Amino acid sequence: MAEVVLVDTEADAGALAAASIRALIARKPDAVLGLATGSTPLSVYAALAASLTADALDVSRVRGFALDEYVGLPAGHPESYRSVIMRDAVVPLGLNPENIQVPNGDLATLQTAGLDYEAAILAAGGVDVQILGIGRTGHVGFNEPGSSFASVTRIKTLAEKTRVDNARFFASPDDVPIHCMTQGLGTILRARHLILLAFGQEKADAIAAAVEGPVSSSKPGSVIQLHPHVTVIVDEAAAARLGNLDYYRYAWANKHAWQGI
Ligand code: PGA
Repeated sequence: MAEVVLVDTEADAGALAAASIRALIARKPDAVLGLATGSTPLSVYAALAASLTADALDVSRVRGFALDEYVGLPAGHPESYRSVIMRDAVVPLGLNPENIQVPNGDLATLQTAGLDYEAAILAAGGVDVQILGIGRTGHVGFNEPGSSFASVTRIKTLAEKTRVDNARFFASPDDVPIHCMTQGLGTILRARHLILLAFGQEKADAIAAAVEGPVSSSKPGSVIQLHPHVTVIVDEAAAARLGNLDYYRYAWANKHAWQGI
């Protein structure tokens, strides 16, 4: 089962995830990070940036793959996920932009972009740790309800709810692209460690479905139940609909320090 860790604040969540990723980079200097966009992972990037700076850890060989990208935004658009990943993660962490890949949402190469991205992940030896948020629809990456658990990187249609949620980044809701290129649930399952974070009551249903609901492609987050190493880090509000909270708290409180997450 997924390990569920309850934290008081987003900063606590960021510190926990960052400590694990920092340890990974220390033992594997060319680690492959699975990078997520959105508000959720910001505390992880902030804590990791602070820790990497304090330690002066060499990150020049660290590699990264983003989860998803909008289709059809002009190159350099500030809300393209390439731009967002550079701004939110690559620059603060001091990573080499040449080591970072983002799915290609260029209309001209859409037909081959998915398989090209899969090939690049394979060539890198796979993702060591994948940071994940979850949408109100239950999506991970942009895998909206109905996505196959075997899916690989491909074009998807964004749910209206997702476009509404992401409209805050655009001048008008109509400017949010309808299509995206996203790693599939099958791609995500091949990452060696998944860290899923969620904060706030609007994520409580999606977290309950992902962690404790039936495994169903109608609830894409439930794919985590098929993975051998998952850490779910949530605040009390996002955890509010979980049924086994007492057990999660008990297990965390009694964990050996050497176990890590
Ligand atoms: P958020 O998005 O981190 O901005 O809440 C999460 C998601 O849509 O996966």
